[in-house]
This record gives sequence, C-alpha cells and structure tokens, in this order.
Amino acid sequence: MRRRRAADCPTIVGWVPDAAALYLFAGPQPSWPFTVEQLRSYESRDGHSAWAVADGERVVGQFELTVTGASAWLSRVIVDPAERGRGLARPLVELALGKARTFGATEIGLKVIAGNVAATRAYRAAGFVETDAADRPDVLAMRRALD
Ligand SMILES: CC(C)(COP(=O)(O)OP(=O)(O)OC[C@H]1O[C@@H](n2cnc3c(N)ncnc32)[C@H](O)[C@@H]1OP(=O)(O)O)[C@@H](O)C(=O)NCCC(=O)NCCS
Repeated sequence: MRRRRAADCPTIVGWVPDAAALYLFAGPQPSWPFTVEQLRSYESRDGHSAWAVADGERVVGQFELTVTGASAWLSRVIVDPAERGRGLARPLVELALGKARTFGATEIGLKVIAGNVAATRAYRAAGFVETDAADRPDVLAMRRALD
C-alpha cells in the first residue's frame, strides 16, 4: 500500500462506468460524469489521505481516510473491476484499519449503500457493525472500535 498518486487517478476514475456505479462508490456527492478533479477534491481537507493498493506499479484498489482526533472515517473504497470477486476487499479494509490506527484513531465509521452486498459483507467481516446513524433509508452506517 502507498499513498495514491496523481497518475493513479485516471485509472481509478475509469473503474466507475456510470452514474449508478458512482453512487455505490461515492454516494450522492459527485455528479456524473465522474472526473479526476472530483476524485481528488478531498485531498486538501484536514486529516484526509488517499491510499492505493498496488501490484507493482499497477493500482488495483483504493480507499480514503479522514481522521479527526480519535475518529476515522473510511470512504471511497474500490477495487479494479477486473480484480473483483477474488477476496481483495477484506485485506484492503484491514489495511485501512491499520492506517487509521497509525494516525491515532480509536474508532472508525463508514456509510455504505444498503444493497451493496459485496461491500457490506467485506465490512461486516472486518468487524464493522451497523449503527443507527444513517441519514437516508438506502444507506447503512457502520462503525467499529480500533484496538
Ligand atoms: C465493494 C468492493 C470493493 C468489493 O471488492 P471485491 O474484491 O470484489 O470483494 P471480495 O472479493 O473481497 O468479496 C467481499 C465479499 O463479498 C462477496 N461478494 C463479492 N462479489 C459479490 C457480488 N457481486 N455479489 C454478492 N456478493 C459478492 C464475497 O463473497 C465476499 O463475501 P464473503 O467474504 O462472505 O465470501 C468491489 O465490489 C467494488 O470496488 N465495488 C465498486 C465500488 C463500491 O461499491 N465501493 C464500496 C463503497 S462503500
């Protein structure tokens, strides 16, 4: 795992084929068509970092973290469509948990679209549990402690 590079971003944007996929990936905030500028729009935010999982130079997945004090927020998790269904999500989420710990976080939260079965299974397997913090009916809010 390494910090996401500018050169990774066009590849990652290319993994999002349409507005429905964009909604699953990033929620309602970015509008279609998805652009590199939208992907990079949080980079200057306090506590934000973007991470790439790579096979050599080739990026195969990414996630983003925002850490505020002891709380971390995991977002924009994605795996290269050509690599999906091979068990990469769980280790990617574990890398995110480890990174959040190194930033001093003691808890981590996320939101996921309720029908996103692969993502929800991966988060549950990594110890996330549902909370009542969801703000829309089609969204699950999840959280776990970081030991
Ligand atoms: C969500 C995502 C990261 C999962 O990555 P992945 O590498 O395909 O997932 P895995 O192969 O590790 O599978 C994770 C779990 O989902 C299951 N799964 C995988 N693909 C599935 C599918 N299409 N339908 C139902 N379950 C599926 C796996 O069996 C596994 O569950 P298990 O551990 O209980 O067997 C990937 O599908 C993705 O990038 N989706 C688009 C972006 C997105 O939705 N991001 C989530 C933002 S919250």
